[in-house]
Amino acid sequence: MSESKLRHFLRDDDLTPAEQVQVLALAASLKSAPYFLKPLEGPRTVALIFDKPTLRTQASFAAGIAELGGYPMTVDGDKAGIGVRESIADVARVLGRQASQIVWRTGPQSKIDEMAAYAGVPVVNALTDEFHPCQLLADLLTIQEHKGTIKGLTVAFLGDAACNMGNSWALAGATAGLHVRFAAPEGYAPDADVLAKAGRIAGHTGGSIAVTTDAAEAARDADVLITDTWVSMGKEDEAAARIAIFSPYALTSELVALGKPDAIVMHCLPAYRGKEIAAEVLDGPQSVVWDEAENRRHAQKAILTFLQRAAEQTAAQD
Ligand code: NVA
Repeated sequence: MSESKLRHFLRDDDLTPAEQVQVLALAASLKSAPYFLKPLEGPRTVALIFDKPTLRTQASFAAGIAELGGYPMTVDGDKAGIGVRESIADVARVLGRQASQIVWRTGPQSKIDEMAAYAGVPVVNALTDEFHPCQLLADLLTIQEHKGTIKGLTVAFLGDAACNMGNSWALAGATAGLHVRFAAPEGYAPDADVLAKAGRIAGHTGGSIAVTTDAAEAARDADVLITDTWVSMGKEDEAAARIAIFSPYALTSELVALGKPDAIVMHCLPAYRGKEIAAEVLDGPQSVVWDEAENRRHAQKAILTFLQRAAEQTAAQD
């Protein structure tokens, strides 16, 4: 199999706008008929590795892989000692001989890029420090369900945008033709290179990307209001300082009221009520967070199916 032609899902813009539409349509079909496709029948094995805490990701991948007819093989990253006991490249070569796909949650994006370069099978990013593309597929599916459309809507992302969720919202939102407004303190916008790339993508899709320090400005007339924890995994030592920096960006009912009357509220979870989001907002009528959590499974089944088909086509051509 030619590694160069192999498809992976490492960043949100690994899918073209047309492919993103296709994957979301497949996700919606899989949600309405969970067992109609069995691309992993055999079962084919999918390796799951988590170097950081997980609930939704582990559960939704395991359930989704089983529903696709496959076998979810959890590999203990600590015991394997990826990049410590053996190089990432050697782990990739070994796992690629056992599994049809590899799903990895880890720290630096460079690690998953290296895994993908050597695995010989599709690699899926289940969250890195820089990106969380599977969450974004679930989020876009949730918007599509609740709003009937995605393209042209306005999304306000409030709080810590200098993290995986901020970067992924920039890339995936631009790819989807959304107008994404980030409201974050100075120094906490998404990565500058990611913003530049997202701006270029938005130029083709009709979307737009804006960054402000004013939470009310971002929230005004938004169709979707989003936040994420102020203390991402690995930042626990900075918790007190972060809570102080981000407190003006808390998603309160006052901010939600600035959005459109039918605006929806999203959060990738875990959520900290009374910190980045008020309890009455998270648990209120505009919140769609539990649909969002469920949609991880449907969206991930769609991307696993897309990658499996692409890998099989590549193998057939070689
Ligand atoms: N930014 C958060 C996302 C959690 C799903 C983190 O990295 O912890």
